Amino acid sequence: MNARERPMRPMAASLREITGGPAYEARRLLDAQYAGRQGCIGKEIRAYDTVTSTNDLALEWATAGAPNGAVVYAELQTKGRGRMGRAWSARSGLNLTFSVVLRPVLAPDRWNLITIAACVAASEAIDRFTAPVCTQIKWPNDILIDERKCCGMLLESAGAGQASSASRAVILGIGINVNEDTFPTDIEPQAASLLLATGHTIHRAHLLAAVFDRLEQALDRLEEDAVAVGKRYMRRMYNLNAPAELRFAHGSGSVQGVVAGLGEAGGLLLATGEGIQTFHAGEVTTV
Ligand code: BTN
Repeated sequence: MNARERPMRPMAASLREITGGPAYEARRLLDAQYAGRQGCIGKEIRAYDTVTSTNDLALEWATAGAPNGAVVYAELQTKGRGRMGRAWSARSGLNLTFSVVLRPVLAPDRWNLITIAACVAASEAIDRFTAPVCTQIKWPNDILIDERKCCGMLLESAGAGQASSASRAVILGIGINVNEDTFPTDIEPQAASLLLATGHTIHRAHLLAAVFDRLEQALDRLEEDAVAVGKRYMRRMYNLNAPAELRFAHGSGSVQGVVAGLGEAGGLLLATGEGIQTFHAGEVTTV
């Protein structure tokens, strides 16, 4: 690591930065694969043994000027978080937990599409390692194997109200259950890992490099042709054309209908008694 990459503030004792591991290995793999690559995902990396949440560090780094594509990677999070106030925990040395700082050109009201592109990227990347087992995407941002979750994403933003896109940032946090072989009993029925699904250990740096690579492609494509990215998402969409219930993210209400696809801005299209409606947040369950 050179001096420019070093964090500007002194680190707390528990926040030990590491200079090896899957994130750096993934970057080396990509640099070797594409000599002189222009890609930005993972060009700058900060990796740690233990952090509260990689999203927290990425948000701080974004505020301090992190470039588009900068990655914060950690082996262990003590306060990893998921959507809708849930926690995300993953054991050290077995999984992948990281956050990417993105400085989107897209207008903030289309930022949900970043999650859509990231789901396509993660699902396609994971499939390269799990074939013939295939992943599916559960709206909005869960990656499933056999109806169990193996990967989740959390999109958080900084400076959405800023006029210039350069001062806006989105943090895309991704957690993948890679070589995990046990889960706490409360989540065990809904959780999957790539190891449990395939019966073999996955090389984490190789998988991370594939995710960086696909993410780069999917985000580029999003700017050129968001409809094409949406189509790729729908091809992998869990519950498509099936009855489902959407529990609203805010409040206690829910609505039932048939999953009809993905809306133009990344919302869920649900065919209800009142016609096709678009929803932008919530939790889908099968009915
Ligand atoms: C979800 O499924 O609800 C989203 C899970 C997101 C987990 C990742 S792990 C890396 C990043 N840091 C966090 O605290 N959360 C995300």
